[in-house]
Amino acid sequence: MGPADVMYELAGIRKVFDGGDVALDDVSLAVGRGERVAFVGPSGAGKTTLFRILNLTLRPTAGTLRVGGIDVAGLSGIALRALRRQVGTVYQQHNLVGRLRVVHNVLAGHLGRWPTARALLSLAWPQHVASAGEALARVGIAEKLYARTDTLSGGQQQRVAIARVLVQGPDVILGDEPVSSVDPSLAAGIVRLLRDIAEATGKTLLMNLHSVDLALEFFPRIVGVRQGRIAFDLPPGKVTPELLATLYAGATAEEGAVPGSDGVLPTSRVCRPVPGLK
Ligand SMILES: Nc1ncnc2c1ncn2[C@@H]1O[C@H](COP(=O)(O)OP(=O)(O)O)[C@@H](O)[C@H]1O
Ligand SMILES: [Mg+2]
Repeated sequence: MGPADVMYELAGIRKVFDGGDVALDDVSLAVGRGERVAFVGPSGAGKTTLFRILNLTLRPTAGTLRVGGIDVAGLSGIALRALRRQVGTVYQQHNLVGRLRVVHNVLAGHLGRWPTARALLSLAWPQHVASAGEALARVGIAEKLYARTDTLSGGQQQRVAIARVLVQGPDVILGDEPVSSVDPSLAAGIVRLLRDIAEATGKTLLMNLHSVDLALEFFPRIVGVRQGRIAFDLPPGKVTPELLATLYAGATAEEGAVPGSDGVLPTSRVCRPVPGLK
């Protein structure tokens, strides 16, 4: 990987919160442009903290972070905001405004790129309806453009959140447990959608997933995180049941045991073969 092909480069990243919690401890990692990586690990492992550092809303306590070759430590103001806009995040809670029509929530993806007055106008009079319509078509709910957002199902609302990120037009999409609030039967469809979008557009896709099965099915690279450290960084075919048992060891039954796509732990977990992978 030459420097131009590297999207993220982390060296010795550490995050200590005010209370003294060490959320990340010496994390080093490189992610190539267009790469797709899933992060798995027990609750409290530091995954969300890592993603907040990657979307530049949280500064590390120590270590170096480069985004697209740029060391972010020295950035502030306009330069920092410009780099932040290159990263779009889809959260577990999609943060949509329920009483607004879908089009307005999608157009909110433009916020930050436009001056405030224009951004607000765009929310009042959807002047960029075409971009919202395109994004909604991409996520499979074009017909919902003018629907009131809170009339949509949970899965549809998460698609709106993805459309909003598409309108933002980032180089990187981060999904922090984007399907944890979605009906399990719809979760795979949404992860697949994000995977397909990333593949078609060359965007880098990083996703925290509660479901190890979804990570193994849709991602060519799996990073296990435990106690603020990287426990393994492997292709799915090399992620053994033993590695997963160690990753989740000691976690409570509810949030711990290696979760499947239904959140249920089979007592002896078998690593399923991944399509297209030897
Ligand atoms: N804002 C915060 N203030 C203090 N401690 C925090 C904060 N956010 C996360 N932590 C702590 O950092 C650790 C990692 O949390 P988090 O990154 O949310 O893990 P995960 O997403 O893997 O569940 C936990 O011990 C958590 O309590
Ligand atoms: Mg989290």
